[in-house]
Amino acid sequence: MPALVLLGAQWGDEGKGKATDLLGGSVDYVVRYQGGNNAGHTVVVGDQKYALHLLPSGILSPSCTPVIGNGVVVDPSVLLSELSGLNERGVDTSKLLISGNAHIITPYHVSMDKVAERFLGKRKIGTTGRGIGPTYADKINRVGIRVQDLYDESILTQKVEAALDVKNQMLTKLYNRRAIAADQVVEELLGYAEQLKPYVADTVLVLNQALEDDKVVLFEGGQGTLLDIDHGTYPFVTSSNPTAGGACTGAGVGPTKISRVIGILKAYTTRVGAGPFPTELFDEDGEALRRIGGERGVTTGRDRRCGWFDAVIARYATRVNGLTDFFLTKLDVLTGWEEIPVCVAYEIDGKRVEELPYSQSDFHHAKPIYETLPGWSEDITKAKSFSDLPKNAQNYVKALEEMSGAPISAIGVGPGRDETIEINSFL
Ligand code: GDP
Ligand code: IMO
Ligand code: MG
Repeated sequence: MPALVLLGAQWGDEGKGKATDLLGGSVDYVVRYQGGNNAGHTVVVGDQKYALHLLPSGILSPSCTPVIGNGVVVDPSVLLSELSGLNERGVDTSKLLISGNAHIITPYHVSMDKVAERFLGKRKIGTTGRGIGPTYADKINRVGIRVQDLYDESILTQKVEAALDVKNQMLTKLYNRRAIAADQVVEELLGYAEQLKPYVADTVLVLNQALEDDKVVLFEGGQGTLLDIDHGTYPFVTSSNPTAGGACTGAGVGPTKISRVIGILKAYTTRVGAGPFPTELFDEDGEALRRIGGERGVTTGRDRRCGWFDAVIARYATRVNGLTDFFLTKLDVLTGWEEIPVCVAYEIDGKRVEELPYSQSDFHHAKPIYETLPGWSEDITKAKSFSDLPKNAQNYVKALEEMSGAPISAIGVGPGRDETIEINSFL
């Protein structure tokens, strides 16, 4: 059985954690391939709620092996506290595998992230402040620290010293901050080495052997398509590739192994942090979506910006990811609106534009062109099949499917595992 990718089709927080957890019981491996603890994935199992940041959502399924791939950036202190938090709640985390090639977020990356944002002032990106961008920058700049470096003190010391030689100049002379002592960073990192050792593995080999043995591998994206460093709303993006291709580079698995790419799509749109968002609402509808949808960040606690569904973005996600399916989430949140506007195209400089413009300047002043669909008032949270949905809810889903360019194979009608309507099986 080949591999599947599950990723965010919008600006993150689409419900990837719930969708991954749902499939977790039926797959052998769940792999995070990019991002780090900027992610906040919520999983609700019965009356228990889990907020996962770095660990793949498959960790809650006992039969599944969770994997942190080479493309992820790992903050060891966050990882260890996430593991101990789960252990205290009775979750077995012993099967976790971490790539020795994954890069480490050190305290100086976190400092650099925060001071850089402060320095940008009103031009800031609104990052999560977790050190993500600076860690990926060091990776590309070939001055990063990898998980495997924790097991060679001399190499680790040389690398930390080399990185801090430059960073301390920036921290003290440019940002007016105190320098960071290399020996303290080395000591802190070495303190994590033994605790992490049982998990460190050649994950590329493990995953490729698993695929040869017909095991099912699910790649779980962090963030979303529009936050992708190449395909998102640059520079208001994260510093990795949440799009489907990122699964190949971030886990070391060839594209020929991937048979299905599932886009998680919220029935409306949200965004955290700065950047363009054509369908953003500043009125009571936006406030109601935020309240009913519980749209508050899992990682930073920031209110999420809310707006109507944007079909231009959904079509774009279908294209850049080669989506085979959508998993539509949070349809229940739209219950109670008499009419629901859906953005079908943009107006840019007086012209109708059907596809996402490649020009940042154009996108910044794109105005949504709406079509209004009739709403429904019946409670849909108990719906188990498509036919259980009120006619207008069915029509809303069908309209979104038609506009978005890939079949909607599952619908979320509540946060719980069982609050899902399965239309086509993913496996
Ligand atoms: P992720 O980052 O993509 O995993 O998404 P988040 O966990 O940050 O945000 C999604 C939120 O919506 C979480 O609180 C989920 O529990 C919740 N959620 C997921 N699917 C549904 C759904 O179908 N209906 C409702 N009402 N909530 C959902
Ligand atoms: P999940 O996986 C929503 C946003 C930040 C900021 C930008 C860059 O839960 O969907 P970063 O710290 O990554 O350098 O911040 O990206 N961002 C997210 N927004 N969901 C996320 O993750 C996000 N991870 C980062 O708000 O705008
Ligand atoms: Mg989230």
